[in-house]
This record gives sequence, structure tokens and C-alpha cells, in this order.
Amino acid sequence: MNILIINGPNLNLLGVREPNIYGSETLSDIERWLNNQMEAEPHAITWFQSNHEGRLIDRLHEAIGNIDGIIINPGALTHYSIALRDAITAVDIPTVEVHLSDIYNREIFRKISVIEDVCVKQISGQGKSGYLDGLKKLLSSLN
Ligand code: DQA
Repeated sequence: MNILIINGPNLNLLGVREPNIYGSETLSDIERWLNNQMEAEPHAITWFQSNHEGRLIDRLHEAIGNIDGIIINPGALTHYSIALRDAITAVDIPTVEVHLSDIYNREIFRKISVIEDVCVKQISGQGKSGYLDGLKKLLSSLN
């Protein structure tokens, strides 16, 4: 399968950014870790990160016709980007939503995800393991 893993704003600062919430590993550490998992190895995994809403939307559009499933951590865009939601719906590729932190046990504004109901599954609060769990959920939904 061709899997695209998208990370949104500020996730390039993992390892530096609020380590008490997001942990001490960098995004590259998480990418390397996931790529080496047994479940990931048979698949072609492409990682993409941007701090820009439009770039994330463009990357989703580029997935049409060549990506089987998407894992997305949209960062703060989760909570308000209807444009990102529309892009997920428009490309019509099964998508799993992942959050490192538990968005239900933080500020009130993080409890709302505008993409949750257009995703196959939402995973929140499992740290980097959420990406692996997301991959497993995505693969089982594709079979
Ligand atoms: C996040 C949670 C969001 O609320 C926050 O804005 C992020 C990261 C997470 O992975 O826990 O940037 O998506």
C-alpha cells in the first residue's frame, strides 16, 4: 500500500516544543521509528510536514490516484480548519486522524475536531504509538 503521513503546524518542533506534552523525540525520530515497525515495512510510506494550511491541502490533492490511505495529525488546524476537512472529503481517500496528546484532557477548544467525522478513526493521547495504531487501523480498513 502507498501510505501518506501528514503532520501539520508546529509538529516540526517536536522534541523542543512543550516536551512535557509532546515528548522529547523529534519528528524524524518518530518517522524512523514507525518506518522500522514490522507493520510498516511492507508498505511505501511517505511523510510530509508543513506549517501552512494551503500546502497541506495541496499535498492532499496530490495524493489522488497514487495514495491508498492517509494518516494525518493536523496540529491546531484540527480544531478549526474547514478547508482541511473539505480537502479530506474531496480526495476521498481513507484517512485516520492522530494526536500525540490527549485532546480531550487539555483546553476546552481542543476537544473539538472538525475532521473527526470524515476520518475512519481518531486516535488521541497515545504519543508516537498513535501513528502505529493509526497505520494498523488504516490497513485493516483498506483490506
Ligand atoms: C496535536 C494537538 C493539537 O491540539 C495541537 O494544536 C497540536 C498537536 C497533538 O498531536 O497532540 O499541534 O495535534
